[in-house]
Amino acid sequence: MSEATLGGRFRFPGTALTVQRIGYGAMKLAGPGVWGPPTDPDGAVALLREALAAGVDHIDTSDFYGPHTTNRIIRQALHPYPAGVVLVTKLGARRPPDKSWQPAISPRELTAGVHDNLRNLGLDALDIVNYRTMGSGHGPEEGSIAQQVTVLAELKHQGLIRHIGLSNVTAAQVAEAQAITDVVCVQNLYNLAQRKDDPLIDDLARQGIAYVPFFPLGGFSPLQSSTLSSVALRLGATPMQVALAWLLHRSPNILLIPGTSSVPHLRENLAAGQLTLAPQDLAELDGIATEAAGVP
Ligand SMILES: NC(=O)c1ccc[n+]([C@@H]2O[C@H](COP(=O)([O-])OP(=O)(O)OC[C@H]3O[C@@H](n4cnc5c(N)ncnc54)[C@H](OP(=O)(O)O)[C@@H]3O)[C@@H](O)[C@H]2O)c1
Repeated sequence: MSEATLGGRFRFPGTALTVQRIGYGAMKLAGPGVWGPPTDPDGAVALLREALAAGVDHIDTSDFYGPHTTNRIIRQALHPYPAGVVLVTKLGARRPPDKSWQPAISPRELTAGVHDNLRNLGLDALDIVNYRTMGSGHGPEEGSIAQQVTVLAELKHQGLIRHIGLSNVTAAQVAEAQAITDVVCVQNLYNLAQRKDDPLIDDLARQGIAYVPFFPLGGFSPLQSSTLSSVALRLGATPMQVALAWLLHRSPNILLIPGTSSVPHLRENLAAGQLTLAPQDLAELDGIATEAAGVP
């Protein structure tokens, strides 16, 4: 696909890293419940190779998907990585055998997490590492993240991490981290129906920092809206394509990492970059968050 069809390029601030605005989120490549191997390992490898062949150069992953599964599939499918491919991983959790998600935020755990990612991805240095807070279970929770960010900054100083991002954070936590190190991206929950981060997105856009919504399609509960469906019908597109195109229109610092284990869905998602939304479409889509909140 041409540069423009994947949303155009974005440069992470203060870095030499540029990516297409439509990338890929690898979480769905693990088994059900983000646990264990995928049901179709060969299909997962083929999907990643197709994504790269289509021009995707930004892959979001974590060693706690599986655990270790998605990183190992990425390595199997794509290593040695073509020049320009940016792998973004995250730290801050671990998956004990009961399949739960537990915090892993001590200096020892964060350092071990970096080494796990390096080993499983087959890298000497990680392009971007997001410190992911556990939050409240319903989103980010205020509280200092200085200790964890300082550990990542030290690992960056050692050359094991090139750049640092944050995930599941508040605006105050972003500011706190920026007093310690440069922050190149923020990955929080955001989509057509979940727009608490609107002010944060605008603030990060002013600073040139990437905002990378997780659950861009609604995540485990895919977006459903009669407004979304009717706009999609009018445009001859699918609702998921319109949801992604709306994010691309929302702000130039938004990068997409839609997740899928299906090649047809991957193709559909990548084609969202070719959709143009008119002011009337945008106005209708902007009303979805109000509908979702039940505001009359
Ligand atoms: N930082 C964090 O805390 C955090 C949390 C969650 C996720 N993430 C990252 O964000 C990425 C994106 O989030 P996500 O994958 O959970 O959610 P998502 O992208 O909002 O949605 C994924 C879901 O939508 C389905 N889907 C994808 N494309 C579709 C299409 N064209 N038509 C219909 N259904 C479609 C997928 O199922 P199929 O497999 O059937 O297509 C999957 O169930 C993840 O892959 C992960 O890398 C980060």
